[in-house]
Amino acid sequence: MDFKKEIAQKISLLTDMELEKVLDLIETPPQKNMGDYAFPCFQLAKVMRKAPNMIAAELAAKVQPDNVVEKAEPAGGYLNFFINKGEYIKEIIYEVLAQGEQFGSSDMGKDKNVVVEFSSPNIAKPFHVGHLYTTVIGNAIEKIYKHLGYNTIKMNHLGDWGTQFGKLISAYKRWGDEAVIEKDPINELLKIYVKFHEEAEKDPALEDEARNYFKKLEDSDPEAVALWQKFRDLSLKEFMELYKKLNISFDSFAGESFYSDKMGEVVEILKEKNLLKDSNGAKIVDLEQFNIPPCMILKSDGATIYATRDLATALYRKRTYDFYKNVYVVGGTQSLHFQQIFSTLGLMGFEWHKDCIHVSTSLVKFADKKLSTRKGDVIFAKDVVNEAIHKTLEVIDIKNANLENKEEVAKMVGIGALLYAFLKNSRDKDVIFTWEDTLSFEGESGPYVQYTYVRGKSILRRAGQVAETADYSFLQSDDEFQLVKLLGGFKDALKEAADRYEPFVVTRHITEIAKAYNKIYNSHPILNAEANVKNARLHLTKAVCTVIYTGLKLVGIETPESM
Ligand code: ARG
Repeated sequence: MDFKKEIAQKISLLTDMELEKVLDLIETPPQKNMGDYAFPCFQLAKVMRKAPNMIAAELAAKVQPDNVVEKAEPAGGYLNFFINKGEYIKEIIYEVLAQGEQFGSSDMGKDKNVVVEFSSPNIAKPFHVGHLYTTVIGNAIEKIYKHLGYNTIKMNHLGDWGTQFGKLISAYKRWGDEAVIEKDPINELLKIYVKFHEEAEKDPALEDEARNYFKKLEDSDPEAVALWQKFRDLSLKEFMELYKKLNISFDSFAGESFYSDKMGEVVEILKEKNLLKDSNGAKIVDLEQFNIPPCMILKSDGATIYATRDLATALYRKRTYDFYKNVYVVGGTQSLHFQQIFSTLGLMGFEWHKDCIHVSTSLVKFADKKLSTRKGDVIFAKDVVNEAIHKTLEVIDIKNANLENKEEVAKMVGIGALLYAFLKNSRDKDVIFTWEDTLSFEGESGPYVQYTYVRGKSILRRAGQVAETADYSFLQSDDEFQLVKLLGGFKDALKEAADRYEPFVVTRHITEIAKAYNKIYNSHPILNAEANVKNARLHLTKAVCTVIYTGLKLVGIETPESM
């Protein structure tokens, strides 16, 4: 039973307002003592030409107590509903236990395709913490959409094309040492790439050589293609190690190179629609009407660029996946780029440009100076991941030295802790990272939430066999009702997270569940309670574990059984 919907139905019957509209209007009261749902009467007041508080009072008198509501009270222009606690607790726990990990799932996304592009690192360049941010957020968004029934397509738009590959080929041929590069590919390729720029300052002929190599690459010259392929394979191998650790997979690695032969069409359409303008020999699309700088399509030497490839990418995705939404999880520094792409698609006449969404992430900052930075200011994601695992193992060695499968637990907890730091706040906030907060077992942290699950599981283990059924009317305390309300609110949290492309809504919600459960753990006996109470609390414990496990999984965090 969906209590919110049942209440909406009552209101709809009493007021003749459409059910959907009522559902939209229903709010959560700001304070617990004001009930569980509130219906604002201000819209009705306009239609009925009556004061909202009068309407609220009249409606309240008409609501009869039943298995859905205990009572309804007018409060100013609001009608506050107090749900039937006993029924609610019964319904929710029953539903969680019956559905297990499927709890909160939906068919709202049935037959709708959602492309989620995330991570998208660049070949032969560092996979830095900024990429880690979009990787974590994109992975969570995809999982949440999937849980809501959408068909998701996970795309990794690798940066594997562009003039820089001409430079890299030239650098490799001059200074590349195959054995050294095989060992530590990205670092070494980066080194020779940097060297190329230094040398090219002294000898500008190098630039011509690089341009030449890129031209060869574009013309499918076998040697150039083989080298490019080698760089791509080696880099991807390194990226895959990281994805494996993070337990992340993709459906497609069609990166920029994949679109290198699909840009002609874009240029044709732009020409046909008279959108291409000359600008010092280059071709651009004027976007002044949107108050943003023009989108460059062709450079003065006729070469296509990043933006041209993104236009071809969007066309390809629409054609191939007929997407309902095309989501780009990419750092906020590329906001303007995506505005230009989406506006240009609009000018090209593609109505679906409105379904393209740039989900932007902010910056990642490290308060700990200790963290090693290797090249300039860039912090490699793999270093942070490895350090998180390493530091967690140290903590486990102190706290729980006899733990079996220590390494595996350290991986789940260390990575979980790290991921949580990216998932706990909205995307418009910079991630300010400290090891102390991240690895803390208290307050708002990954280990805290994971530990709550572990605690619940340990209670269930100690209880031995848990009875099939329980009488939930023994869950009498307000603490328990508030916890069950949080469990019941999980679905709404998922929907809100999906609507806003904000996984933190889920992270926060399960953190609240963990806090509420720990409050009960600390102030009410569970294993030592009277038999009926104990049994009901064990069922509640099981439901809490299920929702925490599912919630963590949906944001991409694994949970150990003990830690
Ligand atoms: N490779 C780019 C970078 O590392 C991100 C790609 C973003 N996606 C896109 N469709 N342009 O900055």
